[in-house]
Amino acid sequence: SRNIRLAVIPGDGIGVEVVTEGLKVLEAVGTKVETTTYDLGAKRYHETGETLPDPLLDELRGYDAILLGAVGDPSVPPGILERDLLLKLRFQLDHYVNLRPVKLFPGVETPLGKARPEDIDMIVVREGTEGPYAGAGGVMRRGTPHEIATQESLNTAYGVERVVRYAFEKAVARPRKKLTLVHKTNVLTYAGDLWARTFDRISVEYPEVQTDYCHVDAASMFFVSQPERFDVIVTDNLFGDILTDIGAAIAGGIGLAASGNVNPDRTAPSMFEPVHGSAPDIAGQGKADPTATILSVAMLLDHLGLADEAARVEQAVADDLLERLAGWAGRTTQEIGDDITARVAG
Ligand code: NAD
Ligand code: IPM
Ligand code: MN
Repeated sequence: SRNIRLAVIPGDGIGVEVVTEGLKVLEAVGTKVETTTYDLGAKRYHETGETLPDPLLDELRGYDAILLGAVGDPSVPPGILERDLLLKLRFQLDHYVNLRPVKLFPGVETPLGKARPEDIDMIVVREGTEGPYAGAGGVMRRGTPHEIATQESLNTAYGVERVVRYAFEKAVARPRKKLTLVHKTNVLTYAGDLWARTFDRISVEYPEVQTDYCHVDAASMFFVSQPERFDVIVTDNLFGDILTDIGAAIAGGIGLAASGNVNPDRTAPSMFEPVHGSAPDIAGQGKADPTATILSVAMLLDHLGLADEAARVEQAVADDLLERLAGWAGRTTQEIGDDITARVAG
């Protein structure tokens, strides 16, 4: 089989710990992988002032995919690593789809007492290159009682159309064929109108897809009260960020939530990472659950056309999660990684 060229960015905090386990599992799959690790993150920033130098960004373009742990550290002011490293990667590599499955595996405990795996099985298609993340902003009279801070949301017809189209394609390929647009059209009237019109226009091309609209506040409520309402969701960058942390919570916790920053046109490598952050509160203690990263590795394999290998990894995780129910809780990061690796290796 072919050789995967993979760039690895462990990043900060638990990012390093969980990526170690993700790579172990990837190796056990048996596909030839050539990895190159990049020391981007807080340490490099302190030592050199660099977040993501342009020559390095160009080098990253040459890989088949990127695996990232997490970035962000209490010693670095908020936004520097998040915007100039992580978001720069998502924007520059045109990751306009941020794919975030919300899926309850059998045997996993959910705070929604009676929810069954068939009730929590959705995919959030979060826009990845626009919205409030990409808009202009500014501040006047900073530090005075008259300070004014603005933070705009950027929404283009081109950007909205391509992510909505992707979501329809996802929905039509699933058994339920249901797509929900989540926005806040009752308040964000300019952006919401563009999203709603685009959604309605494209829906005509997909008569098999059942469409629905939900304001983001109501959607947040339905995530915890009636998650079975949702199959595929398409939404703005910021709404998708918030909703998928709720999604993680209902599907067994942030330690299980995987994601892919996908460039569907394949003009640059896609990047796979857990939904969670660097978790400074538990970093270095072997307490982080590496499962989210391992499931992100499965998404990576799937993206590279290795569907069988991806399915093997996902099955190994599902088997491991069932055993946790049977009293395997409290294992370390490495123990969970070892166990899933052994299952993948068969
Ligand atoms: P976080 O996701 O790092 O942590 C939130 C809570 O979840 C913490 O209590 C943490 O211990 C727990 N948690 C997270 N991952 C876990 C895992 N794998 N296993 C067990 N518990 C886990 O979010 P935060 O605390 O808001 O942010 C911390 C830093 O991470 C910040 O600098 C933030 O900007 C950054 N961040 C980065 C990413 C990313 O790189 N994609 C995502 C979110 C936050
Ligand atoms: C995530 C994170 C990032 C986001 C931050 C760290 C920029 O919260 O991946 O969910 O908001 O997208
Ligand atoms: Mn987030």
